[in-house]
Amino acid sequence: MFDTSKRMEALPFSGIRVMMERATRMQKEGQDVIHMEIGRPDFDTPEVIKKAAYDSLEKGHVFYTSNYGTPELRAAIAEKLTKENNVAYAPEEILVTIGVGEGTYASIAAFVNPGEEVLVPNPVWLNYIHVPEFFGAVPVTYSLKEDRNYQIDMDELEAKTTEKTRMLVINTPGNPTGTVQSLETLQKLADFAKRHDLIVVSDEIYEKLVYGGTKHVSIASLPGMKERTITLNGFSKCYSMTGWRLGYAAAPVEFIKGLVRVHQYINTCASSFVQDAGIVALKEAEPDVQAMVKEYERRRNYAVKALNEMDGISCRMPEGAFYIFVNIKSLGKTSAEVADYLLDEAKVATVPGTAFGTEGEGYIRLSYACSYERIVEAMARMKKAFAELKA
Ligand SMILES: Cc1ncc(COP(=O)(O)O)c(C=O)c1O
Repeated sequence: MFDTSKRMEALPFSGIRVMMERATRMQKEGQDVIHMEIGRPDFDTPEVIKKAAYDSLEKGHVFYTSNYGTPELRAAIAEKLTKENNVAYAPEEILVTIGVGEGTYASIAAFVNPGEEVLVPNPVWLNYIHVPEFFGAVPVTYSLKEDRNYQIDMDELEAKTTEKTRMLVINTPGNPTGTVQSLETLQKLADFAKRHDLIVVSDEIYEKLVYGGTKHVSIASLPGMKERTITLNGFSKCYSMTGWRLGYAAAPVEFIKGLVRVHQYINTCASSFVQDAGIVALKEAEPDVQAMVKEYERRRNYAVKALNEMDGISCRMPEGAFYIFVNIKSLGKTSAEVADYLLDEAKVATVPGTAFGTEGEGYIRLSYACSYERIVEAMARMKKAFAELKA
């Protein structure tokens, strides 16, 4: 047997996948499991996007593209960011990636040295912990706390900043809390990043999934921020294209030059016909996106109300993404125990908050990217299971 490299010790298997695999196994055994653990939309990709991929294949677009992505897609992304996000990007300032997953990896590989520190939220999508560790850098976590509505605490950030701090990672709307950082928080973050001369990585993958009139703001649109920000975004969540693996990084050309050096040795380029479909997603799929957003909002409103009516359980109303972070502290059990209990007793799969970092203890994450009817059923089952636990 060959041992994995020492570097791999920083790469555990994801806690979300563990739960998903258990739930899927139970389902295969014939049990009626409701999947509220999955961080992917339940909708099919909009037809107009699928058609664009078929057309592209028909036209014979089956070859490598430029490492940076096709000129047409880069131009479409630059135009979208200029119009929708109020940051004027040129096509040269866009790198097409294999999802935000790759964008994260490339940003850290290209711009963080071993021993340098990266400020990362807690709880967080764990790539932001394990990728820096993989490169010998140090993720330094800052807390997102329910009693602050999960808004970033600037005093804590200041206290955790040292001369080794190189990068600040933010994620809004955020996984796993569903929180949108307010404009006021973003303005404070911008001042902070400029004062400490930090690179900001802004993960905006859930940008269009915002509810109740909430507006998404890109931190790169604030004065003096474009020059130090790598904006990561992609098609997975908002267009229901998780399996297509398409995303992008937007940043000044000097950043793009660094990112592409990593990208060229991992992926060469994103798939040619998927890039063609990406153009159509940006230009023609907005009505489909808004229909999905409307349905997510309906599910969110139902589930949050139902959860808050359960004895001993509570959650705040998330403004974005498709997650609810549920406070289970009064049950007197760990989040892993509660997630296991729900799966065993109610056949509802959730993710323990600790799969997203230490601040997740006392919480479970529910995804409402499953049908309204299944959510209604899940809430009824959970209500019964919690009542039995308390009895
Ligand atoms: C915050 C965040 N960023 C990135 C991703 C992955 O994005 P992609 O499919 O574009 O790699 C996820 C997926 O769960 C996520 O929650």
